[in-house]
Amino acid sequence: MYKYDDYDHALVRERVAQFRNQTERFLKDELTDEEFRPLRLQNGLYIQRHAPMLRVAIPYGLLGAKQLHKLADIAAKYDRNYAHFTTRQNIQYNWPALENVPAILAELAEVEMHAIQTSGNCIRNTTSDPFAGIAKDEFVDPRPFCELIRQWSTFHPEFAHLPRKFKIAVNGAAEDRAAVQVHDIGVNLTRNAAGEVVAQVLAGGGLGRTPVIGSVIKNDLPWQELLTYIEAVMRVYNRYGRRDNLYKARIKILVRAIGPEEFSRQVEEEWQHIKGGVSVIPQKEFDRVSSFFTAPAYEQFSAEQVATIAEQNRGLRAKHVGFDRWLTRNAREHRQPGYVAISISLKRPGIAPGDATTDEMHLIADLAEQYSFGELRVTHEQNFVLSDVAEQDLFELWSTLKEHNLAMPNIGLVSDMIACPGGDFCSLANAKSIPIALGIQEAVDNLDYQFDLGDLSLNISGCINSCGHHHIGNIGILGVDKNGEEWYQVTLGGRQGNEASIGKVIGKSFYAEDVPGVVVKLLEVYVRERHEDELFIDTLDRIGAEPFKDHVYANKEAA
Ligand code: HEM
Ligand code: SF4
Repeated sequence: MYKYDDYDHALVRERVAQFRNQTERFLKDELTDEEFRPLRLQNGLYIQRHAPMLRVAIPYGLLGAKQLHKLADIAAKYDRNYAHFTTRQNIQYNWPALENVPAILAELAEVEMHAIQTSGNCIRNTTSDPFAGIAKDEFVDPRPFCELIRQWSTFHPEFAHLPRKFKIAVNGAAEDRAAVQVHDIGVNLTRNAAGEVVAQVLAGGGLGRTPVIGSVIKNDLPWQELLTYIEAVMRVYNRYGRRDNLYKARIKILVRAIGPEEFSRQVEEEWQHIKGGVSVIPQKEFDRVSSFFTAPAYEQFSAEQVATIAEQNRGLRAKHVGFDRWLTRNAREHRQPGYVAISISLKRPGIAPGDATTDEMHLIADLAEQYSFGELRVTHEQNFVLSDVAEQDLFELWSTLKEHNLAMPNIGLVSDMIACPGGDFCSLANAKSIPIALGIQEAVDNLDYQFDLGDLSLNISGCINSCGHHHIGNIGILGVDKNGEEWYQVTLGGRQGNEASIGKVIGKSFYAEDVPGVVVKLLEVYVRERHEDELFIDTLDRIGAEPFKDHVYANKEAA
């Protein structure tokens, strides 16, 4: 994991001191709301429905056990004993008192964390593959690049006042697990025929009011030029992005307006001025940063040991159906023989997706220490990953997790839904999300049924800002406001990953209480129509949305 050097420490501490002073002046009425607003936003602090909301960055989703313990302590001391993990590998506190925020930031600084640039019109937390460095299909480890982007973008004076917020995602594997196609800039790292690391750069993707899949604007970019090239993209956007209309300010609107080819041409032209310049990544610096991301001290298991442990686990799986299910859904192949990566689902019946309590966070941090070299990751699906678990520890780990309601074996299943906090917390919401998520969870509660349905993504947003990624869910649910009433629009056909696509609205919106029933009906059509081993999304692709619409709206039309 990256460790702060003296510069990092000094920068973060200075920022905490500044913000303490700014908050004190605001509380003494020496600063107006308007004056304080940009200052708080630069420190991740929103004013929400019930209280301020503080968003803390988890750079590219990597978290140390000590950091998670601190996040838990903060939830206990300054909040209501829980926190919310988001779709951009951040964590949000929903109830901090404004006067305590400087103290929270000071505590975060102790464990090399902060809330700088987690809001505002600047470059936000760079997100990445939660299986970086361990995935079998990885070409290039994205973490050093993410860290270099983080260092380059934090406090970058030229990009502190962009037309709108800016999100970068980096992926280095065959499967896109970082949603690069729906980010302002997406980076795919690969190797060329000579084995050198090169980048493919996408621009202009994003969800929200106008969902757009990003366009490839550059191929085969030498890694040394990654920052100069991103800088050129940012400059073109900073100069020509719209500042007159909030809804048209994202880079996706610019790329669409002039076309990806023309945008790419302009970037190339700008790049000529800075290519080979001060932002080129020196090999030495790359090596220094990379040294923080070396593999942990894995135990070297012989092929024989691996086979014996596998045999034992097979026996345990046969005896304990819960263990078997959990491994089927929540374990993932690892590069190192004898190890797997384990996902801990934060989608439990009756609990808002992505929420974890103080006790749970402490427990997960302890388990990371005990079973995963003190490190873990958070995913954009709002779950945790213990990245390096020895196969011989799996049963013990599962038993502990199970005892604490954290062994939900549903990764990738319908109940592993993404949901934003919606109207319960967010002042921008048109409708609630959490009760809808809970209602659907209840409707699909039967695990056998969920297992039988297989991989299926269901994403919920409380408004068109799309924090809950509803556009790229196989089933998407969007809260809409109609004359002051909360309604829900349903989309079908969205996907994330390599084949990312935007879902299409199926028809008229529904009342909140109808939504779980609608989801069940959509699933019924799938079960009726599917070929053997066909996923929901593939059945939908094959038969189209009509049969789904017919079934869902059948009674409505008769009425
Ligand atoms: C509670 C306070 C929140 C506020 C005020 C807020 C604000 C916004 C706004 C205004 C947008 C639209 C930006 C645009 O289209 O230009 C947006 C989009 C987004 N937000 Fe939030 N959000 C909040 C919570 C969250 C949460 C909890 C998550 C994660 C679960 C999240 C992650 C995202 C994501 C992923 C987008 C995607 C849109 C895109 O890619 O264009 N936000 N948010
Ligand atoms: S999608 Fe809308 S309601 Fe949900 S968190 Fe984002 S801004 Fe708030």
